[in-house]
Amino acid sequence: MRYLEGPFAPVTEEVTAYDLPVTGRIPAELNGRYLRNGPNPLGVEDPVVHIWGMGQGMVHGVRLRDGRAEWYRNRFVRVPGFAPMVHVIEHARRTFAMAEGGLPPAELDEELNTVGVCDLGATAEGFTAGAHSKHDPLTGELHSLSYMVGRDFVQHIVTDAGGSVVRTTAVPMTRTPFMHDFALTENHVVLWDTPLGFDGFDCRWSPGHPTRVGVMPRAGGEVRWSEIDPVHVSHTLNAYDDGDSVVVDLVTAGGPFDPAAPGAIRPALDRWTITPDEIRQRRIDDRPQDFPRVNEARATRPYRYGYSAATALYGIPFAPEGAPPDDAFTNALVKHDLDRGTAEVHRFGSDEAVGEAVFAATGQGEDEGYLLTYVHDPVRGAGDLVILSAQDFTGEPVARVHLPARVPLGLHGNWLPDR
Ligand SMILES: [Fe+2]
Repeated sequence: MRYLEGPFAPVTEEVTAYDLPVTGRIPAELNGRYLRNGPNPLGVEDPVVHIWGMGQGMVHGVRLRDGRAEWYRNRFVRVPGFAPMVHVIEHARRTFAMAEGGLPPAELDEELNTVGVCDLGATAEGFTAGAHSKHDPLTGELHSLSYMVGRDFVQHIVTDAGGSVVRTTAVPMTRTPFMHDFALTENHVVLWDTPLGFDGFDCRWSPGHPTRVGVMPRAGGEVRWSEIDPVHVSHTLNAYDDGDSVVVDLVTAGGPFDPAAPGAIRPALDRWTITPDEIRQRRIDDRPQDFPRVNEARATRPYRYGYSAATALYGIPFAPEGAPPDDAFTNALVKHDLDRGTAEVHRFGSDEAVGEAVFAATGQGEDEGYLLTYVHDPVRGAGDLVILSAQDFTGEPVARVHLPARVPLGLHGNWLPDR
């Protein structure tokens, strides 16, 4: 039941608190909202179900303004049926809680109340949006890759900067893949069909199913598929075009993967260089980690820095003393310098737990800004919003905003700066 306990345990209350206590100093240039979505599996008994993102979505947010933490709010995503719980993004000045499996997003207001289900203007045959929709920071377009259980194709969906779906491309598959994430470059969409896919509503690893990697022009057109040895892809860090090659940095997890034994995956950071002839695979960092993030201003283009959350699945390298070896997250974040091939590790307290951290830019330099994340403090039994300087990554946090409630270690989020 580890996904229902401690820092993972569901919360039942919606809380609102103003003018939160802070240790340190909130940078005055951080004006906006830090939001994170995640499943809140009230009444769900099955930890496997939880880790795969079932349960009602709940968004936790902190609003920062002029050096103050103006409010904390957590709100259920209130839509009928299966609530979006995977991510929360902003597009066309609107806030969306994102689902996957072909389900539509829910629009939220500034204070995280649910406005309603929104299909982003998709046509009737459209799958709306995917869990890891990606912005091109230069064009403002939002690209999504969406699968739907029971359908033997996936869709690439392009939404323009104004919020209208402008193009939908169906990519035929042999079954419904579990295509949680994909990659986007200036000119290409990269997708993968791994052994992990759906047999009915069951998500399972199919031995003998190779991992197929597809490269498609962003404008639509033929997908060029290549096969590599079976491996699952958890998340993309970033990707870019390099001449005839497409470079994708991503978290892979070898198989076979048994959803009934989640400790059997070991996620690591890899670089795939996809040429017309081959896919060269190189391990960037063998230590278990996931939830990679980049400065979104460098998304889809060449870049230098990436950030990830250490996990302790199997491996112990990042695990705090005495921590159970199979916890999904530990107490550490990693900053990768991909040009130099080095990494720095920021460790929180030995009993604390940290999930995904997002980069908030405050300048033009790629690492000019801060990392924002929620850290579970077991002493208070509550969460802190922690702000780290990206350029002083191993230094003391510049601020810890003390929240009045626990934030379960959830899925994904974003820093949504004021415009
Ligand atoms: Fe994800």
